[in-house]
Formats: sequence, structure tokens, C-alpha cells
Amino acid sequence: MASVIDKGTARSPDASNSRRSFIKKGIAAGAVGVGYALFADAPSMLTQTPQPGPLSAGDAALLRFAAAAEILESDFWVQYNELGGIQDSEVPGGTGNPTYTAKLQVLDTDFSQYIHDNTDDEITHFTFLNAYLESKGAQPVNLDAFRTLPGSKATGSSGEMRLTNLMQLTVDTSWWTRYRSSDNNPDLDPNFTFPQAVPDLSKGQFTAIPRTDDDLSPDAHIQAIANTAGFHMPTIEQGGTSLYPALAQRASSVEVLRILISIGPTETMHFQTWQDKAGNAPPLTDPTNGLTFPDLNKPPFGGELFQTNLIMPEPCPFLDRKLPKCSIIRPTETTGIAMGVVNFLTAMGLFTGQSPDFFTTLKKLAADADAATRQIM
Ligand SMILES: [Fe+2]
Ligand SMILES: [Fe+2]
Repeated sequence: MASVIDKGTARSPDASNSRRSFIKKGIAAGAVGVGYALFADAPSMLTQTPQPGPLSAGDAALLRFAAAAEILESDFWVQYNELGGIQDSEVPGGTGNPTYTAKLQVLDTDFSQYIHDNTDDEITHFTFLNAYLESKGAQPVNLDAFRTLPGSKATGSSGEMRLTNLMQLTVDTSWWTRYRSSDNNPDLDPNFTFPQAVPDLSKGQFTAIPRTDDDLSPDAHIQAIANTAGFHMPTIEQGGTSLYPALAQRASSVEVLRILISIGPTETMHFQTWQDKAGNAPPLTDPTNGLTFPDLNKPPFGGELFQTNLIMPEPCPFLDRKLPKCSIIRPTETTGIAMGVVNFLTAMGLFTGQSPDFFTTLKKLAADADAATRQIM
């Protein structure tokens, strides 16, 4: 596992310098013009234009649910970026909260950069999915009518109205042991209970961002808020890691399949990064509410199921226990995946305060996606 010290010496966490905007500006200025031109001229590009013809109703529903999930992801990642990321033209809004940012950087000195880049990714995911839907004459997704939740009032927040709520989270951290288990796979053992990494986070409600400047002290309180964010981020991204392969199994067009299996692994890259950072969350107890982050490397934790550097997916049973164990994404069961994601995010408290119309809309998108069946085209 990358330690905080390693990261600090490897690259300075210069909050004013976004690697991605530099690269994009470089392309615009022709700094990498030769390579770009060669790539643009490559014959293979000719075969990569969008497939003609309309989408099947099922494919459109799969992509619409993915777009909705990405809009919701973008909404809360923007909230993280406003307070603890890098605010720039790529991810505008907010001015940063230095105290919160410093506590996030206890987990990794590059934390702000990773928040920025994850946010940027999610914005491009929904923007692309909606544009693709429209290019096929299909309805895109717009959830703007549900931007009704007040967000953080702490220094750094833009004060915009939000779709999601990061301030009353109940975080299921059982993915930690699910990916470390060599014996159980939720697809084969749907009733098995994987132990929580941070049991307290799975009970009660906790904020992952400072709600007001009153949350900036005492020290262990704002660190606990940063730790909560540190576990919430991989909890979300492991969900996306399962969502895309589960949806992909019911895509009909090869191009829709390609979209799903090209976006999905970026969610896995997010998850893998964030689960490594979560392991750096300092053990502590929040004096204001008793929320405890245990030392995952010491008894009664520690060992194969909890050790923080065991971030590679442990091989586990897959499809059939008669087959050899395999290192895989888990779960990937496709039946009911979209409604499962809606229920997972709702139970997390991410939509606390949302209107009945919001849930009706989201469940309709999920039901349509879950009704999609794979057809040979
Ligand atoms: Fe995404
Ligand atoms: Fe993501």
C-alpha cells in the first residue's frame, strides 16, 4: 500500500495544479500535436464511428439508468470537490475548505487531486451517455428538477442546491471483507453476511463533509468526517464496479456493450484507488458522537479479512464451486441490478430529504433497465 510519506515525496500535492487540465491545454496548444495527428489519421478510427440505427428499447433503458447513476455520482463528487478537491475550470464550484482538505490529505497527500479527477470522470460519464442517447434519437436523462437539497454551509461550499445528501450517511463497509474473502461470493452466497470494516459507520448517520464551520473542530471530529469520506468513496465506487458488468450482460448492441464495458472498469480504477486510501484512515474515536474507526491491522481486526494492504481482489468461488477460484469483480449477477443499486444508495442515506417524485422517477428508470433483455442484433 502506498504510504502517505511515499506519496508526499513522489509528487507535491500542489492544489493549484491539475494534471488533467494541463494535459488538455497541452493538446489544445498543439504541444502533443504530432502524436495526436497520427492517432487521428489511423485507419482504425474509421471503423469507430457510432453504429447507425436506433437503439433497442432495452439498450436505451440500460444506458439511461447508467446516466442517472452518473448524474447522482457527479452531484456528490462535486460536493466533495468544492470542499476537499481542486476547484478549476474542469470542475468548477466552491473554493475549498482548508481544514477539511488537510484532514483528507492525512489519508494521502494526493487526495485532492484524486477527488478532482474522480469528479471529472463522473461528469464525462453522464455527459457522454446522454449525448450518445440523443445521437440515437433516444431520450436522455435530466434530474435537475430534483436539485432541492441544501448542501454544506461550511467555508468552501458553493451553496448550490443538491440532488444528494452527504451529511446523513450510513455506510455499508462490508465490501472490505467481501473482496478479501476467499470462501464467499455474494452471487453464490446471497445470504452470507460479510463483516464490516468500520462497524459504527453501518449504524447511525454520519456526515462525510463539514456541514458548517462548527464541524471543523475538535480535531478528532473533523478527522472522523474525513475518514467517513475516505470509506464512503470506495463504498460508492465498488457499487459502480459491479453495476456496469451486471448491466452489460443484457446489452443487445455490441456498441452499447462496448460503452458499458469501457466505462465500468474506470469505476473499478476509482474503487481500487479509494480502498487503498481508506486503509490509511487513522484509527480514532470522534469525541462528539463516539464514531470509532478501528485499527484494521490489529486484533480483533487484522488478518486476511481486514489487513489494510490486502487490496487486490482475493480469488473466490465464481459461477460454480466446482470450478477453480478466480479473482473477479463481485457481485455481477444481472437480475434486478438497477433496483438493487437504487436500494443500496437509498439505504446509504444518499437521498435523505428527496421528494417522493424523485424516488418514483429513479425507480422507473431502474425498473426499465431491469426489464431489458439481451437480443441478438
Ligand atoms: Fe461513473
Ligand atoms: Fe465512479
